[in-house]
Amino acid sequence: MKKIGLLVALSFSIFAIGSPHWLSARVNADKSSLTFARDIAPILQKRCEECHRSGGVAPMSLVTYEDARPWARSILEKVVTREMPPFHASGTVGRYRNDPRLTDREIAAITKWVNGGAPKGNTKDLPQPRVWNTGWSHGEPDLVVKPAKPYVIKASQKDQYVFFFFDYTFPEDTWIAGVDTRPGNLKAVHHANTHLVPPMIKTPAEGYIAGDFDPTARGTIMLSGWAPGVDSVILPEGTGVRIPKGLRLGIQIHYAPSDVERTDQTSVGIYFADGLIKKNIRILFGDRKDVEIPAGEANYRLAAKQTFDTDAVVRFFHVHMHLRGRSYLMRFTYPDGRVENALEVPRYDFNWQRVYMLNEPMRVPKGTTVEFIGTYDNSSANKFNPDPAKIVRWGEKTTDEMMQGRIFYESENENLNLTVKHGRAVAAVESAEKTK
Ligand code: HEC
Repeated sequence: MKKIGLLVALSFSIFAIGSPHWLSARVNADKSSLTFARDIAPILQKRCEECHRSGGVAPMSLVTYEDARPWARSILEKVVTREMPPFHASGTVGRYRNDPRLTDREIAAITKWVNGGAPKGNTKDLPQPRVWNTGWSHGEPDLVVKPAKPYVIKASQKDQYVFFFFDYTFPEDTWIAGVDTRPGNLKAVHHANTHLVPPMIKTPAEGYIAGDFDPTARGTIMLSGWAPGVDSVILPEGTGVRIPKGLRLGIQIHYAPSDVERTDQTSVGIYFADGLIKKNIRILFGDRKDVEIPAGEANYRLAAKQTFDTDAVVRFFHVHMHLRGRSYLMRFTYPDGRVENALEVPRYDFNWQRVYMLNEPMRVPKGTTVEFIGTYDNSSANKFNPDPAKIVRWGEKTTDEMMQGRIFYESENENLNLTVKHGRAVAAVESAEKTK
């Protein structure tokens, strides 16, 4: 129903904006009509092509005029409702790194172009084709891991999740500065999240678990997230992540629905830290396990509370719920009483799990409290809901629920003063001698 209402609204706006016949016919058509070549191709290149190109994860390419033209109406609908490009946090465009959202101007341009008949314009106005880098983001990583053999994704109209265990155990505490993910098959990999796997989780003989398995429910810690358009980050100098000895790496991959069988062998590259390390990235957890969502309940709320026990520099957020997840909010209350919504995910979508990386880190004073608030929709209005008649409790299956919030931050005052070489801390004495 909602969709129909929207379409009606859109077609009204098409009449209102698209056929300005009451305006003077003398208005210069060239000036007012936008063209694909000059005005739209640059927007699609910047915001859509990453996924909508041959070999990309989206169902169709939007690279050339011939590719895009048949989709004009659908493009208009998806950008006006902000369903495309997919991004689920709100706040000003540009707050997050890798934020693909369109600006109001870009949406206005697409609207005008579609309503003006979606003309091609002059081929000479087309921007240079975009070239896609398929290599590692920061040169050859110090450590590269991948599944023992390519994985076959059977043709299916369903989303598929597979957790791969990599055959590498950190032999010592290791400081890392960055993680990069190289999908083996961009057509198949919808998103891929690298996790740290504790020894208590055994690797099955096949090397992976396909299907309904939530690694974090078993005790893994998510280390980094990849989705199309997300570039890998190297932590600022002096900051690292210490990986305790004995942990392994694993990756959860979400494969997109597909008509044909595909294979994938995604690799993960790790960049070790080198030089002086002052700070270890810390995590503030906002989790609840006492989940019990009544059948049919459309707006069930769960909250957790935490306090920063140090002056903090906040860099990334991550939230995790399952199919009933509806929205998520992280609200900061500063010691002076000021309240700020640090992360808002108004329309949570299980199929687009991401890390939200701030472009400008937030500086948060000690004593700031955080409310982590998840809401859930267990009614039939939630199109992802497999069974609105069921009471839903915490569990690993996507048909169960989870409530996780993560804030990745550094302590402003921490100074570990550790010299690290190729990821390993060099003994303090030795480093003191070296610097003399
Ligand atoms: C991060 C990847 C990604 C980006 C960026 C992206 N899309 Fe999509 N798009 C998808 C996927 C995947 C689908 C298939 C449906 C789904 O999973 O939501 C889709 C579906 C669509 C559809 C609906 C196709 C259908 O079958 O009805 C349209 C239209 C669309 N996208 C337009 C755009 C436009 C326009 C942009 C840029 C302004 C864009 N998309 C950016 C991944 C992306």
